[in-house]
Amino acid sequence: MDKSLSPDQRADLLLAQMTLDEKILLVHGNGRLFGPPTAASLLSNGGAGYVVGIPRLGIPALQMADAAVGVTRGAARGRYSTALPSNVAEASSWDPALACQYGALIGRELRDQGYTMSLGGGVNLAREPRNGRTFEYKGEDPILAGRLAAEEMKCLQAQGVIGDIKHFAANDQETGRNIGNVILSKRVLRETDLLPFEIALKQTEIGGVMCSYNKVNGDWACENQYLLNDFLKRNLGFKGFVVSDWGGTHSTAKAALAGLDMEQPDSEYYGDKLKEAVAKGEVPAERLNDMVKRILRAQFAAGQFDNRAPARVPDVFGGLEFAARVAERGTVLLKNGGNLLPLSAAKLKSIAVIGAHADVGVLSGGGSAQVDAAGGNAVPPPPPPPGTSPLDRMLRTPMWHPSSPLKAIAAKAPLAKVQFHDGADPAAAAALAKASDVAIVFVNQPASEGRDLATLSLPENQDRLVEAVAAANPRTVVVLETGGAVTMPWIEGASSVLEAWYPGIRGGEAIAAILFGEVNPSGKLVLSFPKSEADLPHAKVFGPAEAATPAPAGGTPDFRRQLPPFDIVYNEGLQVGYKWYDAQDKVPLFPFGHGLSYTTYAYSGMHASGGRNPQVVFTLKNTGKRAGIEVAQVYATLPAAAGEPPKRLVAWEPVELQAGESKTVTIAIDPFYLSIFNEQKDAWELPPGDYKLWVGASSRNLPLSETVRAGE
Ligand code: GLC
Repeated sequence: MDKSLSPDQRADLLLAQMTLDEKILLVHGNGRLFGPPTAASLLSNGGAGYVVGIPRLGIPALQMADAAVGVTRGAARGRYSTALPSNVAEASSWDPALACQYGALIGRELRDQGYTMSLGGGVNLAREPRNGRTFEYKGEDPILAGRLAAEEMKCLQAQGVIGDIKHFAANDQETGRNIGNVILSKRVLRETDLLPFEIALKQTEIGGVMCSYNKVNGDWACENQYLLNDFLKRNLGFKGFVVSDWGGTHSTAKAALAGLDMEQPDSEYYGDKLKEAVAKGEVPAERLNDMVKRILRAQFAAGQFDNRAPARVPDVFGGLEFAARVAERGTVLLKNGGNLLPLSAAKLKSIAVIGAHADVGVLSGGGSAQVDAAGGNAVPPPPPPPGTSPLDRMLRTPMWHPSSPLKAIAAKAPLAKVQFHDGADPAAAAALAKASDVAIVFVNQPASEGRDLATLSLPENQDRLVEAVAAANPRTVVVLETGGAVTMPWIEGASSVLEAWYPGIRGGEAIAAILFGEVNPSGKLVLSFPKSEADLPHAKVFGPAEAATPAPAGGTPDFRRQLPPFDIVYNEGLQVGYKWYDAQDKVPLFPFGHGLSYTTYAYSGMHASGGRNPQVVFTLKNTGKRAGIEVAQVYATLPAAAGEPPKRLVAWEPVELQAGESKTVTIAIDPFYLSIFNEQKDAWELPPGDYKLWVGASSRNLPLSETVRAGE
């Protein structure tokens, strides 16, 4: 209990006092959420995972909760949590400071509710835009995802809660997630799926890494020597602990020797079997000690042995205010024909609000990231088919949060006649649109863990609805509530398009604030929107169709393990997202980094320097009539010999400018972000030669460029 000692020293002292049985207790969970209660699980705080404490030694329990967009499972114990906008929404602000505040709020609410570890922190890349969990992640660029995850987890841990980062690694689709074998070269792995983990873990000490369900190059991720020991622990020097995804452990000795430190949620492999393996010498005692030390160290580092902050009621109003801010910053104005937006309340006599339950709420993402809606689902689901397990029900039921865009819009335009139509009948909706000054049609794309999207088309005939409304009234605004990219066959007919993602508990208010110009949108896409799925690297998601849906009624996710294993060959390799479109010379509908504003910006006067400290300097001017935030982006084309895609994001900066204001912006480029991974040397290198540096407003709008030399 000597705080003057380091977490390592304190963990060593404590470890030396522990018995074998006590050590075994610390390296596994105590039961599934929906499983039969056990004596130990009754001590759980109600979250996804629970590791017993050791009162004799003052070791606190590890109370783990999923908390990607807020603390989950509130309904089970009547707890309120702030339902923040999705992770892809927060990432669309491109703002590390906002990511920090996002993590801090979740950390406070986890602590307030008695939890000691987060299970949020998803950074899987949007290789596969039909991935059902795209909403939970930070888009297609590894540097952006890694930087934002680092800030989020650093600031979450500052609240006394152990942070985590997941799903390690390359769990980029849900179809067959616990049978698929992802095949990627070491260079591609290091420069894509592993890179967000490398960046986040180098920039901040995150306590936990969750290994994923899938195989990588033939071995399960949670018993993968290269991933866990060679890369994570030896290359990166990771001092925290590797925890399996729930049910992702496949062995005792192999997993222990490969670097898995904790089994969740049960003790099938790391309970008695691990004790036997240690007794037989299959697992050296020092490896068990290492597992326990890593866990204790993370608890010490998070201050969990010291004066723990007392539980308290969450700061509801602070949470609402922050949720609104994230939604405002993360919403992306994709199109604004004729500057229809912002709407002028004074000039509008009638407004049609159509579709996506906009009268009662906003959509959120399903699965373990699901925050239960305050007051219950704003759109009560139909009774589930008989025999549906609680898990399937969770995976199948879209949760709507009680923030009504209709009410928020009506409040902005008190003199206008605001009418709602549910959109079920496109013709009737179109008639209302025709009779109104402006039509705002909301569309939604439910997505969830446990299943991928069948297509990127809007479900339930919504494309027809938008077409009908836009044909009836040229002053049509489309508001998207989606987990990720969608195709838009109606794009020509729609005057303005706003991507609001899953906008959280103040989503309705944030959307209205942007529609009426109280807030100037500044979000930028962190993933590409294709014109058509034919432009994607793969015609469909890898794997058998039956693996693409939640477990059948009454089944469990394990049913997929009975399916034949299959390989997931991401042969696009380094060409993830915008790099694919660049390399294949395809034009996306809306490119990575794209996002409009109600003002305009001009880029000029670029000076770039190379060598050991590359940087760009340029002038950014707000040439419009209102203040705004412009996320200025810096891309690099590496020397041809590097064998890289045409360009990559290497730096960015959100810049706030008043109307007419100019700023000289200096952005340093970390040479690591210009490097390539050399498999022979098993190391990063900065190839010598010419680097073309680009500066602009999106990956496809780069008015400035200059070539510099680096890597000498
Ligand atoms: C789930 C998810 C993981 C989550 C865990 C606990 O299967 O893959 O993201 O943290 O189990 O709920």
